[in-house]
Amino acid sequence: MNVMHKVIIIDYGSQVTQLIARRVREAGVYSEIHPCTEAASAIAALKPDAIILSGGPSSVTDADAPPYDPGLIDLGVPVLGICYGMQLLAHNLGGELAASEDREYGRAELEFLAESPLWDGLDRKALLTVWMSHGDKVLAPPPGFTAIGRTPNVDYAAMANEEKKIYAVQFHPEVAHTDQGERILHNFLFKVAGLSSSWTMSSFVDTALAESRDTIGDAGVICGLSGGIDSTVVAVLLNKAIGKQLTCIFVDNGLLRLNEGEEVVGYLRKHFDLNLRYVDAADLFLSRLEGVEDPEEKRKIIGHTFIEVFDKEAKTVDNARFLAQGTLYPDVIESVSFKGPSAVIKSHHNVGGLPETMNMDLVEPLRELFKDEVRKVAVELGLPDFIVWRHPFPGPGLAIRIIGEITAERLHILRQADKIVQNELVASNWYRKVWQGFAVLLPLKTVGVMGDDRTYENVIALRVVDSVDAMTADWSRLPSEILARISNRIINEVKGVNRVVLDISSKPPSTIEWE
Ligand code: XMP
Repeated sequence: MNVMHKVIIIDYGSQVTQLIARRVREAGVYSEIHPCTEAASAIAALKPDAIILSGGPSSVTDADAPPYDPGLIDLGVPVLGICYGMQLLAHNLGGELAASEDREYGRAELEFLAESPLWDGLDRKALLTVWMSHGDKVLAPPPGFTAIGRTPNVDYAAMANEEKKIYAVQFHPEVAHTDQGERILHNFLFKVAGLSSSWTMSSFVDTALAESRDTIGDAGVICGLSGGIDSTVVAVLLNKAIGKQLTCIFVDNGLLRLNEGEEVVGYLRKHFDLNLRYVDAADLFLSRLEGVEDPEEKRKIIGHTFIEVFDKEAKTVDNARFLAQGTLYPDVIESVSFKGPSAVIKSHHNVGGLPETMNMDLVEPLRELFKDEVRKVAVELGLPDFIVWRHPFPGPGLAIRIIGEITAERLHILRQADKIVQNELVASNWYRKVWQGFAVLLPLKTVGVMGDDRTYENVIALRVVDSVDAMTADWSRLPSEILARISNRIINEVKGVNRVVLDISSKPPSTIEWE
């Protein structure tokens, strides 16, 4: 990526390393995460303007502690060590650590001990609430370092070698629980390292267009369009870069929400003049799913059928050398462990399995971006809200929201119910506040009354969750009037449903989807 300034984050395994990268990028500075096994010479080749050493779960004195390359300090660029990163600096530059069995976890009050550019703009007379999560702590700083902050438990909660521009904090400025954490990170970037804010999504789009043209030349590119934001942004971006050299393929598997295929495809054709093929394969998918109840079996059948249909269509595209994918930065870093490359590949990957079977080169123009950045690129490219803010939708679609067997009738019921959920979330302005909201059709019937008659009909479960990355989630506290409206409308308007229940489980231990 051709950027003005670059911050390299060395990952020692903290669960919040990605947050550091996001905070730096939100400040308008490009950042990349690299595993701690990378040699300082490899990091030097990236020409970093500053380095941040992340936190991590280990103790620096553990026999199998993540490695630290002293050459990182010799690069002469400003360094910020966070938590484990601080302990590494103390340990390796001649300070002293106190090992501890007990972790300090939670809020602490930081007292400022000295003036420092790191504290610029903060009220140095007041205490600052910071977030701690550590075992070991610094007992004596290395030569050249002074304490610039302490907490009741930790005498060296922040230390600095102002001359060499090496800073270290025991707390986590990247998490929201640390007051003014963002300001502290900004101070490191702008006051200490003297960087400027130049990472914007319009600069990204310009570079991505040039790089895509460069890589692709005059070859053909195929892009699987799912209707989700990632693949849509890839398609629109590449369309801008290479026009008709791009062929987008949208496979309708018969498991989409009501009118979903037509809405997305229709919009893109009309407004972006995409070279787009709509493949209606609903009958094939549904016939193969007949009588199948096991969720993993459903996923397997859908996955294989998708590859088969996609591959067949792709073979009819002339000169196609590249396959475009909406891989994002978290997919890239999560497939490499902080201890170096490993075979861990994220499961729910967009179009898993395609590249291996198709023998094509990959183009992944979004592989440096976080999800929130993809949304900004979408806006930059002129995509409308209904695409930019679309909830994630699983590849196997409604198949994993119909518990048990999938039939045309059950698909019809779920689509009607789900449409009401979507409409009401949008109408009440809750759609953008929640991560995902949808209806699930249960494999049981219950008794109800309608007029003088007893009914024996289907149950719909309502699942609405808050999340930041789908790894954990909690059920959304929707106001009861909205829940009442959704329930009333589904029972009154969807023939075949006489009961609506609300899912109030969090993930873990539950999952977002029901299958
Ligand atoms: P779970 O149910 O595992 O879902 O909590 C986490 C996120 O992944 C989506 N999901 C899938 N996406 N294929 C996909 O492409 C799948 O088989 C699949 N299963 C779950 C889910 O919608 C949520 O966003």
